Amino acid sequence: METTANGGPLLVMSGIVKEFPGVRALDGVDLTVRAGEVHCLLGQNGAGKSTLIKVLAGAHQPDAGEIRFDGRPVRLAGPTDAMRLGIATIYQELDLVDGLSVADNIFLGHEAARFGFTRRGQMNRAARRLLERLGHGEIPPTAEVGRLPAAGRQVVSMARALSHDARLIIMDEPSAALAHDEVANLFRIIRELTAAGVAVIYISHRLEEIREIGDRVTVLKDGRTVAVGLPADRTPTSRIVTLMTGRTVEYVFPERRPPREDAPEVLRVEGLTLPGHFHDVSFSVRAGEIVGLAGLVGSGRSEILEAVYGARRPAAGRVLLDGRPVKGASTTAAVRLGMGLAPEERKAQALLLEESVARNVSLAGLRRFSSLGWLDRRRELAEVERQLEALDVRPRDPRREVRTLSGGNQQKVVLARWLLDGRRLLLLDEPTRGVDVGARAELYGVIRRLADEGIAVLLVSSEVPEVLGLADRVLVLREGRIIHEAPGAELDEESVLNMIMEGSAMGAVGTP
Ligand SMILES: Nc1ncnc2c1ncn2[C@@H]1O[C@H](COP(=O)(O)OP(=O)(O)OP(=O)(O)O)[C@@H](O)[C@H]1O
Ligand SMILES: [Mg+2]
Repeated sequence: METTANGGPLLVMSGIVKEFPGVRALDGVDLTVRAGEVHCLLGQNGAGKSTLIKVLAGAHQPDAGEIRFDGRPVRLAGPTDAMRLGIATIYQELDLVDGLSVADNIFLGHEAARFGFTRRGQMNRAARRLLERLGHGEIPPTAEVGRLPAAGRQVVSMARALSHDARLIIMDEPSAALAHDEVANLFRIIRELTAAGVAVIYISHRLEEIREIGDRVTVLKDGRTVAVGLPADRTPTSRIVTLMTGRTVEYVFPERRPPREDAPEVLRVEGLTLPGHFHDVSFSVRAGEIVGLAGLVGSGRSEILEAVYGARRPAAGRVLLDGRPVKGASTTAAVRLGMGLAPEERKAQALLLEESVARNVSLAGLRRFSSLGWLDRRRELAEVERQLEALDVRPRDPRREVRTLSGGNQQKVVLARWLLDGRRLLLLDEPTRGVDVGARAELYGVIRRLADEGIAVLLVSSEVPEVLGLADRVLVLREGRIIHEAPGAELDEESVLNMIMEGSAMGAVGTP
């Protein structure tokens, strides 16, 4: 199963070069993938992973280098060329069309299949079969994609890749939007695919995933291949991290400094209810405290954050900031009162992709820099540069269009915005999604520093160890209700996972 009909590897990319104005994103990259393997591509934010797979998907034209597929040199002039060879891609920034239905998205650009479907019902049935295969028969093929939650959109993107009878499926951080149980489901599908001889290129910043699903690892650094063919299950983490970063990084959480006994309550939530999402939720966050919400995707985590921020109107209950009830649901009022939200779907909700980094970072802080009606641009730029440095955004150029930053660096821009402006309360939804292991530790440090300065932080993350390692206090959510509360230091991952899965239909997924 390791080789193709002619005995060689399925894919050989050699000496791939790709330049963008002012950046050599790929500087002679080599990648060899065998049929039936899960080949992991690792590298820091901005190392060139997404660029490389865009070359392979026909979305970027390389400036130099050769691609052989199935032993033959190929030219991938556009996405259709790649598709025709059996190369399907699930992009990091999902490229779904919001206004179209689930089924339309799955079969988009699918000439053969589309013309084969004489009736709409047939296409919907085919879509349903693919969704069921992915363990998500509950997603209606007729639903509008734009209305699905992040995890649902990810599933649709997967279904589209599966619809192509692919020989090579590229997954760029597929697990970033998925919770623990969903990842188990994704891995089951990957195993089915590879057993049938399909090759998978898997990109993720979560090393424990690489160990579980990966066969071999290629490491990129600054647009070059620095290691090939490492065994995914046996290569020590320290070695991988050193290859990626050129230094040794400890994956540690900053020391907790719980808030003082007399620290004032910044946020109080009383009996908050939004039918279908969460029920009778009450808790508080004090100045200097980090409170974490742990729960599955769909447990109501993100919706609670959005209700606090005024983006959703709860049916019952109230939100108090500094002891005063926040009236009406309005995000403008929330920002004025000193709340900041770093949302889960940053591309859709948080970033002006065509605008510069500086403009994106200073969006919320604009008022602080305007004196007598005009903007003090120099001060603003200096302040923005300080934040970019603190978060290690690369490249550190405030004038660059956000669109041209790598996924992880875009995430840092969203966070930098709220760090710039003095906030009372920060609502962080998946703050480290897509951020590499090296930068993660830095980000944790930044969040803890903010808390130490007296900011109240409410944190949501699918990664339970992150919630336990960072939060002073953890609220465990199941099906929209808080079922447990304890200091982060007193909880362990397994018991939290048991609590959040107990009684849910998916509890069995992933157990042998
Ligand atoms: N369209 C573009 N125009 C200009 N520069 C770009 C463009 N796309 C990517 N780059 C640059 O190329 C480099 C590699 O980016 P790439 O997105 O491939 O990184 P990555 O390894 O996928 O990182 P991440 O883990 O953050 O997703 C970065 O310096 C990025 O800013
Ligand atoms: Mg990327």
